[in-house]
Order: sequence, then structure tokens, then C-alpha cells
Amino acid sequence: FMRESYASRKPPVSGTVDVERLEQSAREKLKGREDAFSYVFCNAGTSATYHNNRKEFDKWKIVPRMLRDTTVRSIETSLFGVKYPAPLMLAPIGVQGIVHAEAELASAAAVGKLGLPFIMSSAATRSIEAVAKANGTGPRWYQLYWPSNDDITRSILSRIKASGFSALVVTLDCMMLGWRPRDIDAAYLPFFHSVGAQIGLTDPVFMARHRLEPISPEEVPAFPYDPAHLDALLQQGDEKTMQLVRLGADWIAQTNAGQFRSWEDLKFLREQWEGPLILKGILSVEDAELAIDAGVDGIVVSNHGGRQVDGAVPSLYALQKICQSAKVKQAQASGKFTVLVDSGVRTGSDMFKAIVLGAQGVLLGRPFIYGLAIAGQAGVENVVKSILAEFEITLGLCGYKNLEEIHGRGEEIMVRLD
Ligand code: FNR
Repeated sequence: FMRESYASRKPPVSGTVDVERLEQSAREKLKGREDAFSYVFCNAGTSATYHNNRKEFDKWKIVPRMLRDTTVRSIETSLFGVKYPAPLMLAPIGVQGIVHAEAELASAAAVGKLGLPFIMSSAATRSIEAVAKANGTGPRWYQLYWPSNDDITRSILSRIKASGFSALVVTLDCMMLGWRPRDIDAAYLPFFHSVGAQIGLTDPVFMARHRLEPISPEEVPAFPYDPAHLDALLQQGDEKTMQLVRLGADWIAQTNAGQFRSWEDLKFLREQWEGPLILKGILSVEDAELAIDAGVDGIVVSNHGGRQVDGAVPSLYALQKICQSAKVKQAQASGKFTVLVDSGVRTGSDMFKAIVLGAQGVLLGRPFIYGLAIAGQAGVENVVKSILAEFEITLGLCGYKNLEEIHGRGEEIMVRLD
């Protein structure tokens, strides 16, 4: 892809491979859609954590080595016993339908083609079955917002298993939404309730609780993504629409704003789910060690992109501390515990830094949503390929041929300058 990028005489399909220009261009694309725009770009509070995520990446400086032959390079890796072409996956991001009409189907198809994991959000705007189909033979994981009702949890787990999702990512840092001023100003939430409910509307257990048949994945409506349009529908008082909106709100209440859970409760998920179980939203060394004790297979060190606790520790800082724990190191080395990271990853150089500090893979968040907003599936593909090309170039230019040579080597390879 590196050769392709330099040799091509056409500009990239996303218009740019520069991540700042990409963000700008996505903003322009969403002009007049203040609701969607602010939902994607908003953070908790003053955005302090969002900015500090980036600052922490900047503090680390790579010290490249010379006169080493890195002609033959590989960025392949194994996660949870499966080989992947690169240590990158798409972060679970909800309601993708608000930025592009093809929504999750486009992003799942894009990484499906590349062989990298698509992590489907519990707040997706397409059903589990439709996303699996779009993802094709690609690897897929499912992110769970833990429902308050165990029967619904069981139903989701059986659906994702039947649809070929191989790993379960349980998000712990969003038991309720953070304080997000921009969303509140844009009065966005009611809209969110109705668009992100396709998984519920197609769920047999959830629908049976309302004495209804589940809607088939082929027939479940994509809600209008324009709040004005939705408002108009609601004002008309069309009974069918009203019912779907009510069901949507109930689904979100039961799932996305789930009840608080304990380490003890995790046993239930461990029993119900045979595949890799990954906890997302871990920021403290103690919680990482508790995760090992709880018998989970991995964690995503994450502060949700700075969207939950304003002032929370930068994700990369937490990663470094967690990977310095002897217990974590040992669990990682034994192959029984995998540490992933997200929040603030924007470039291939960021990927390099995360891996040097001990991550085994990174989740790409907002940048792929920019690609999706700008050019759908082709846009996502372009963004992912660009970041991977830059990662591979960085690896080679720094004197390394593969991930083993850099993983966890910290200050042997980088310095931190405040
Ligand atoms: C998210 N994130 C998220 N996480 C999750 O577990 N389930 C979800 O449904 C969502 N939804 C969501 C929507 C939007 C618009 C954003 C930006 C983020 C968090 C996501 O998985 C990831 O942790 C962050 O995106 C990482 O931060 P950056 O790199 O995007 O800044």
C-alpha cells in the first residue's frame, strides 16, 4: 500500500491521508448535521482527557537505529490464538448510520476485506446478522453493553455466536453516559434512542417481553437519521413509528444504560461465553490485575476517547503503567492475557509507540469514522491502509523488522520528554 500511495497519481479516495485534514473534511461533510457532528466529535466536560490522550503520544519520542537491514518486514501478529495481518482493529463505535447511509455495513465490509477485526458496537444501527453478512469471511468481535436482564444477555450471546463473532468485548466505562456538554446543547439523546435499537428490534427475547415477534434482520427499518425528519414523523403520531421509537428507548434503557456490575458478576459472562472475553475501559494497574484474577482473556486500556470522565488519565500513560506490572507482564508472556489500547491513536507512529509500551494491538476510533463520513466503505479502507502503511514504514525506518523486536521494549527504544 505504501508503494500504491506514492505511485498513484490520483489523490486518495478519502481526499487526504493527513489525519487532521481528514477530520476537517469529515466536519465539512457533516455540515448542517449539527447533531451527528457533535455526537462524533464531542467529549466529556472540557475535553481535557481527549487532548491529553494526544499529548501523551507526543511526549514519547522514538529513537531510530541505523545500519540495520529491514528490507523484509512483517507487521503480522497473533491475538487470542488467531493470526492477523496487522495489530489493528476497528473500535466499537455506535450509531454509524448517522454519518453514512451504509453505516456499519460499510465499515464491516472494509476491514472484512483486509482481514482485520471489526468490533461491532451494541449501539449499532444495523442488526447483528446484517453486519455479519457484510463482514463476510472477515474476523469480527462483538462489544457488549451489558443488559440488565440475563435472558437478553444470553439471547445476544447466542445470536453473535451463531453469526460468527469470535470474541466478546465488554465495555465497563459507560454504565451511564458521561457529561457531554455538546450533546446536551444539541439535544441529541432522544434521537440516539431510536436509531441504535436495531439489535433489540431483531431480538426474540426482547421482543417477546413486549409480546411481539422479532423483526427480521432484512426488514428492520433504518430509522431516519435526520432528527428533523424523525420529529416530523413523531408529530404525525404514526402508531407504527411511535411503537418503534418506544421499543428503541426501552432497548437502550435496558442495555446501553445498564446497571452497574461487579467483578463477581463477571463469572456469569465467563460461564456463558466460551470465546475470548475482553474488558474495555481499564485504566488502573489494580483493575488490570483483577482482570487477570477474574480469568478474562484480555483488556482494552481505554478512556473511551475522553468521552466519559473528563480529567481521566491519558490512555497511553495508563498502558505504560499497566504493562510495567510484574503480574501483567507474566500473564502476557504466558500467552494467557492480551493487552490492547485505544483513545488517541491517530497515526502509524502512534501504533508503534503503543506497541513499544506493551500493547499487543490498537483499536482505531474516530479516524475511521471520518473515512466513513467522507467516502463510505472505500473511505474506511483508505484510512486503515494509510495508518498501516505508515506503521510499517516507521518500523523499518527505526531499524526493526517485526513486532517481536519492539513489543514492550519501552525506554530501550523511546524516551519520554515532558
Ligand atoms: C465510541 N466508543 C464506543 N465504545 C464502546 O464500547 N461502545 C460504543 O458504542 C461506542 N460508541 C462510540 C461512539 C463514538 C462516536 C465514539 C467517538 C466513540 C468509544 C470507542 O470504542 C473508542 O474507545 C474511542 O473512540 C477511542 O478514542 P478516539 O481514538 O476515537 O479518540
